[in-house]
Formats: sequence, C-alpha cells, structure tokens
Amino acid sequence: MFEVKLNNGVAIPQLGLGVFQTRDGAETVNAVLWALEAGYRHIDTAMIYGNEKSVGQGMRESGIAREEIFLTTKLWNDDIRAGRAREAFEKSLSDLGTDYVDLYLIHWPVEGMERAWREMEALYREGRIRAIGLSNFHPGHLAQIEKEMTVPATVNQIECSPYLTQEPLIALCRQKGMAVEAWSPLGGTGGSLLSDETLARVGRKYGKSPAQVAIRWQLQRGVIVLPKSTHRERIRQNIDVFDFELSPEDMAAIDALNCNRHFGSNPDHFDF
Ligand code: A2P
Repeated sequence: MFEVKLNNGVAIPQLGLGVFQTRDGAETVNAVLWALEAGYRHIDTAMIYGNEKSVGQGMRESGIAREEIFLTTKLWNDDIRAGRAREAFEKSLSDLGTDYVDLYLIHWPVEGMERAWREMEALYREGRIRAIGLSNFHPGHLAQIEKEMTVPATVNQIECSPYLTQEPLIALCRQKGMAVEAWSPLGGTGGSLLSDETLARVGRKYGKSPAQVAIRWQLQRGVIVLPKSTHRERIRQNIDVFDFELSPEDMAAIDALNCNRHFGSNPDHFDF
C-alpha cells in the first residue's frame, strides 16, 4: 500500500474505500468488512452519507485495531451554517463508535466555514482529530478560508477522474502544501467513464480493467484515490493495482481524456 505524508507528518494510505450512497446497514457493514479483508486501511465517509454507524460496525467486526485504520468523516453544510461544528463532530464520533477520527473535512465551502474551521482547529489541538482539511474547495474558496487559518489544511478532496483531471487545482493545492484526494475517481454511479475505449485499451496491455487503470493513474500522479463499490469482487479488484505500472505514454493518453466534465455537483454552483 502506498502512503502520502500530510503536511503535519501524518501518513495516509493512498487508496481508500469511499462509501457515498452506500446504504446504512448490511450494505455498508459488508463493504467496509470486505475492504478491510482485501487490505484497505482507509475508509472515507461523511455525516451526510447517513452510514457512520455501519462504518463503525464494519471496522469493529473486522477485528482490525482501530489505529491501523485511517478514518475520514466530514462536517455537513447545515452544521457549518448553524455554527454546530463541535456538536456535529461529537455526534459523528458517537455514531462511528470511536474516540478520534484521522481526518475531518469541511464538506463543502458554505457560509460559516471560517468559524467551523476555528472549531476544527481547536478539536485538532485537543487531539481528537489527527488531521483537518477541506473538500470541494475551488481557488476562490481556498483564498477565502486561508485568511482564517492558524493550522493549515492538510488536504482538499475534490471530484477528480480521467474526464475531470483537475490539473490546475491540483497544482494550486500542492503549492499550498495540501494533498489532493479524488472523489468519484471512476466517474461516479451511472457515469460513462468505465466504458471509455482508451481506458479499456490501456487496460488490455496490463491485463487490468478500466477501473483499475483509472485508479492506478491517480496513484502515479500522487493523488489519494477513493473508489466506491458495494460489491466484494469490485472492492477487491479496485485494490489490486499495486502489481503494474502505467508507462509515461499511457499516463499521457489518460491525461488527454480530460473534458472538464463534472459528474457530481460543481463547487461553483451548488444549492445545498
Ligand atoms: P457498485 O457500488 O455497484 O460496485 P465512483 O467511485 O467514481 O463514485 O464510482 C463508483 C461507481 O462505479 C459505482 O456505481 C460502483 O458501483 C462502480 N464500480 C466500482 N468499482 C467498479 C469496478 N471495478 N468495475 C465496474 N464498476 C465499478
């Protein structure tokens, strides 16, 4: 498993399981169990996904020590707007059934985020969170929140796939010392990325699927990648990406697929 060192020295596994739209209950418990069984040591959830209890249950049922698993959750927009960061954090911890999270993120840049960040800094200093960061921040949002920071953000988690390669935003985040995490790295549920002919052609050379090629491409460009699946076979397949290396030509062919297509919500235009 590859790791990335965050700007506060904390190591994060470069591949994690995403659980957006994974239903609370058996679906999430199983996805987490299967992932941990397959070798994942990084789970990415959010309060708004509504599955934190099941994520915690899967982690406990796995029998793997808590400190061996890197766990991320996110502070939801309504709690940011209402100035309820600390209460929301406590609720997430209690639902997850743990006494700390590895990474806590501002889920979207909404009004009140500066105050939320200050509260997250306090929780970080109290040792309740190992790293704090952002999600869905575009350059203007970064500029706005940066002014308030006394603890720099460790990451920006953004939508990123071969159809939305995000090169300028990645460069900006790196310049600011932040690592980048990719959500919907497979083009999202119901997207067309996985039937892309270039990904299929490149995959055939290495005996790998389009999903594996898309994941490996992110690993090689240094991005932390969070593929989602509820199927055991796919969960396994998505971590079976450490036994091949894409050539520079193949990397470039995948870079060239960029069409700046957002599958999910665009941080510049969202209404939730
Ligand atoms: P499922 O959960 O039914 O396996 P993203 O991570 O970009 O949000 O996209 C995840 C989508 O891709 C989900 O709909 C997921 O469906 C599907 N998926 C995940 N892994 C694979 C895979 N290896 N092959 C095909 N589809 C996959």
